Amino acid sequence: MHVSAKPDLMTVEDAIKLDPEDVAALMAKHVSPGQQRMLKLLGFDRLLIDHAEGMYYVDQGGRKILDFFGAYGALGFGHNHPRILAAERAFSDARRHDIAIAFMSQYAAVLSYDLAQVSPGDLDMAFLCVSGSEANEAALKLGERAAGRRKPTVLYAEHSFHGKTRGALSVSDSDLYQADFQLLPRRRKVPFGDADALERVLDRDRSICDAHGVIWIADEVQCGYGRTGRFFAFEHENVVPDIATLAKSLGGGKTAVGAYVARTPVFMKAYGKPQTALIHGPATFGWIGTACATAIEALNTLYDEDLMRNAAEQGAYLLERLQSLQAKYPALIADVRGRGLMVGLELSDISQGMPRGTRTLFSSFDKRLRGALTGIVGALLLQDYDVLVAFTEYNRNVIRLEPPLIVERSHVDRLVDSLDDLLSRGVTRIVLDYVRKTKLSH
Ligand SMILES: Cc1ncc(COP(=O)(O)O)c(C=O)c1O
Repeated sequence: MHVSAKPDLMTVEDAIKLDPEDVAALMAKHVSPGQQRMLKLLGFDRLLIDHAEGMYYVDQGGRKILDFFGAYGALGFGHNHPRILAAERAFSDARRHDIAIAFMSQYAAVLSYDLAQVSPGDLDMAFLCVSGSEANEAALKLGERAAGRRKPTVLYAEHSFHGKTRGALSVSDSDLYQADFQLLPRRRKVPFGDADALERVLDRDRSICDAHGVIWIADEVQCGYGRTGRFFAFEHENVVPDIATLAKSLGGGKTAVGAYVARTPVFMKAYGKPQTALIHGPATFGWIGTACATAIEALNTLYDEDLMRNAAEQGAYLLERLQSLQAKYPALIADVRGRGLMVGLELSDISQGMPRGTRTLFSSFDKRLRGALTGIVGALLLQDYDVLVAFTEYNRNVIRLEPPLIVERSHVDRLVDSLDDLLSRGVTRIVLDYVRKTKLSH
């Protein structure tokens, strides 16, 4: 006899059979009503993805959506890359152990070795975990201990984002995300990319730059893993940090893997002795066998398929085509920038696209409407052209393009041609089309 009756649980089969309205109701009731309202505004409450393959999501009705969002860099290999999928399946089929924290792990050992191989200099020690935030938490703690003093100051860049756990959040420059939370003390914000300003802060506060030196953490969670055409984005500058963090595509798009790689002397200073080895790590799920095996296969695939070269080539082509689009629509596109397959398309404030005589009138709404045009363009790209792009919380006028590294020239052409066709309608018609469509569907 059962001690307690089974509650009215749903099953995976039930989940697969749900339609968009059912899922929207569950999301609003059990996940986040606020988030659901936002999805509705963007028109993302009307479709459910059935499966995904390569560059495409496929919805329940068989509609193929071209993915230029790439989950903010988490889909370097696209969806369900056959070789990565096969490695994941083979590991499970052989009933290999996933959790065996009492023993040595050959899979964690090999993934750490491979990470050392792809990292320059003596970035030879790896810590494995399950997310970018966790990797950054671990890196901050490693840096703190390796600084050799208690309570060092942490410098972070303006407009930075490093995650939403408390340590990572403390060095993320967002009033929205930091809200009223208690944050780490002893931190200081410096302008991004301004070496002189950084030097001034270091000079003023000698305690930062004490005898043990400054520890530099490079967050490569989004820009790393080949996205910019080199494995780490910092390699373009011919420098090597003390610690670099990774996540997103590290799990091959199939599993959750985060990591830091650290210079051996830095690691040894913090956790080099048996008494200090367990102060941070290993994490229970950092050594999950399937995740490590999948990540190992993914790293090999990245090199075997020459995906970094493809990222550099397709990225240059994407930038070039977007620059031509900017020349064609100078009132609508304010800027195009990026490196490799990490590209930002900055739209102008909405007033700039309005008829000449009305621009001053509309400019008073610009600040409040910031992001409205990118939201509408994103929604229409999805509705009318079956193309998915990403939004940017920090600068709401920016559409972010981070397609999988397997992207081909024809995909880039399709994205840019869709954008061209949409922008040719002009702002007034774009807004009216959006309003009409949103009204019709609700
Ligand atoms: C640069 C950067 N750092 C850290 C994170 C946090 O990673 P996660 O969402 O896996 O915690 C992100 C996520 O978007 C990121 O882009």
